[in-house]
Amino acid sequence: MDRIPNSLSLCTENEHRTWLAAACRAALAAGDLIRERYEQPHTITMKGAIDLVTETDVAAEAIITASLTADTPGIPIMAEETKASHATAAERLWIVDPLDGTTNFAHGFPFFAVSIALLDRGRPMAGAIYVPLRDELFYAVRGCGARLNDRTISVTGTNRLIEALVGTGFPYQIEATLPTVIRQLKTLLPLVRDIRRAGAAALDLAYVACGRLDGFYEMNLQPWDTAAGWLLVEEAGGTVSTFSGTPFSPFASDILASNGGLHHQLLERIR
Ligand code: IPD
Ligand code: CA
Ligand code: CA
Repeated sequence: MDRIPNSLSLCTENEHRTWLAAACRAALAAGDLIRERYEQPHTITMKGAIDLVTETDVAAEAIITASLTADTPGIPIMAEETKASHATAAERLWIVDPLDGTTNFAHGFPFFAVSIALLDRGRPMAGAIYVPLRDELFYAVRGCGARLNDRTISVTGTNRLIEALVGTGFPYQIEATLPTVIRQLKTLLPLVRDIRRAGAAALDLAYVACGRLDGFYEMNLQPWDTAAGWLLVEEAGGTVSTFSGTPFSPFASDILASNGGLHHQLLERIR
């Protein structure tokens, strides 16, 4: 894991350095397992009609939990697959999506990632998103910028909708949300260069941070989908809000992230 020391020049504060190293170490370890298991058969359990969990989600979460606990004892962990951890009201906590893009992973569609963020009184202070198949480690520390492997990343500069590639996602609760999903697509699709639904919200946000997407919006997300990506986008110079333009929180269910220049125009179309 000689990747981690390289990333540490990003932060000046010791505590932040510890959090970043812990997030990166855990994400890389889980990513190794996910990469190994990707082409093997999976055991799939249904959490809802179309919401899957595989043995790898659960195993990756166990690796992350052990790693974070060893590196930062005492900081509670809210992790997607461990129901008991969802209610924590701690001031400082880890938020973990062990495998964002489970449907993609289960179908052999190569777009998924590990997402880990340290939240301090509701604000992410350090975060990592790791893409095992591409060996891409996105990470950020509050106030110190965002990186992809050893490169500083930033959002795009366009303020023209027609030049924008925009990501979105479709909620698992699709029946209830379909009218809104369709209305937003109908409004936005004719105005932008194109829209992508790639299937991993945390990674979509990392793509906004590094300029592969100009914006991303989705409703009904969970804290583990958005916490690390929110920090990455802001540290890369972008803007993140709810659909009504109010300040974002990972406990808000909808998110609009953009390069900043497009934020108002996107907001007007999806709100
Ligand atoms: C899902 C993905 C997907 C998004 C869903 C999320 P999961 O996370 O991020 O893109 O549309 O809303 O729940 O279940 O693969 O971790
Ligand atoms: Ca997720
Ligand atoms: Ca997940």
